[in-house]
Amino acid sequence: MHIGTTITQFIIEEQRQIKGATGDFTSLLNDIVTACKVISNAVNKGALIGVMGSLDSENVQGETQKKLDVITNEIFIQSNEWAGHLAAMASEEMDDVYQIPGRYPRGKYLLVFDPLDGSSNVDVNISVGTIFSILRCPGAGDAPTAESFLQPGTQQVAAGYALYGSSTMLVLTTGHGVNGFTLDRDIGEFILTHPNMTIPADTREFAINASNQRFWEGPVKRYVQECLEGKTGPRARDFNMRWVASMVAEVHRILVRGGIFMYPKDTKDPAKAGKLRLLYEANPMSFIVEQAGGASSTGRQRILDLQPEGLHQRVPVILGSKNEVEKVVAYHNET
Ligand code: AHG
Ligand code: MN
Ligand code: MN
Ligand code: MN
Repeated sequence: MHIGTTITQFIIEEQRQIKGATGDFTSLLNDIVTACKVISNAVNKGALIGVMGSLDSENVQGETQKKLDVITNEIFIQSNEWAGHLAAMASEEMDDVYQIPGRYPRGKYLLVFDPLDGSSNVDVNISVGTIFSILRCPGAGDAPTAESFLQPGTQQVAAGYALYGSSTMLVLTTGHGVNGFTLDRDIGEFILTHPNMTIPADTREFAINASNQRFWEGPVKRYVQECLEGKTGPRARDFNMRWVASMVAEVHRILVRGGIFMYPKDTKDPAKAGKLRLLYEANPMSFIVEQAGGASSTGRQRILDLQPEGLHQRVPVILGSKNEVEKVVAYHNET
């Protein structure tokens, strides 16, 4: 009988190629994988275990927290704090840096995560996900601060997401392409099902929350208008549109069949540069998309080159099929 490649086997074999790898990183990824399995189980059981609905609390972004936002954050902390691989963690659901408690050894990596992405979808049984990014902790021995996390996306050691959809998947990059694994619940393992995922350069599918149209800038208005004009317009082809409102689900669709995803800068709230957060949404997803041959930009700059200024900083995001992203960027350059 053929046994598929488990994610553990895949990571160990990939790390073997790297000179000086100590096994620390492999072990960290294993703990992240465990956290994603526990979250998958909680999301899947849903109302049966009383985890649906909202709390009275707000997170640092002023969003009302869902019960599962807090539960999944806690699962990530518990799975990852004990092993000695991490120096600190940061997440959407924590205002400040989470220091590793003194009873555990402090390691050399930083973990940043969005424990439940698309959490507004959880009560209506639509796909949600988890996004994570691993950085090296600068400055040996010192307690990490928020500063320690403010590294450009190009510095990421690894990034990935888990998608809790019709099946649970984990998609991962360590900077050597992108690979997708599907959870086999009977054996409790993620099995390699989508090796070497690549994004086609061209697409006829775009994703944007069109209810914000009146707040968009000129270049995005122009791009979407031209898509809508279809065959008889300047693009000379018909486009399809999708909006799940879970970034993980949108990026996954783009990795599987191409497309462009935009949460652009808008004038709805002049204090915000965009909606999505740089460190735990835009950067990990941009790393994955670029590794799969796609592109990712704010419209004016490559996202992975941005120098972060705050843990919860927001940025405009335009990512996916290369030729389409480049077209939107070109429209920005003309203004
Ligand atoms: P989160 O649930 O982690 O706060 O993220 C939600 C994000 C993202 O996943 C999605 O693309 C976007 O918000 C949806 O925003 P709208 O509700 O404005 O469409
Ligand atoms: Mn949120
Ligand atoms: Mn999110
Ligand atoms: Mn979230």
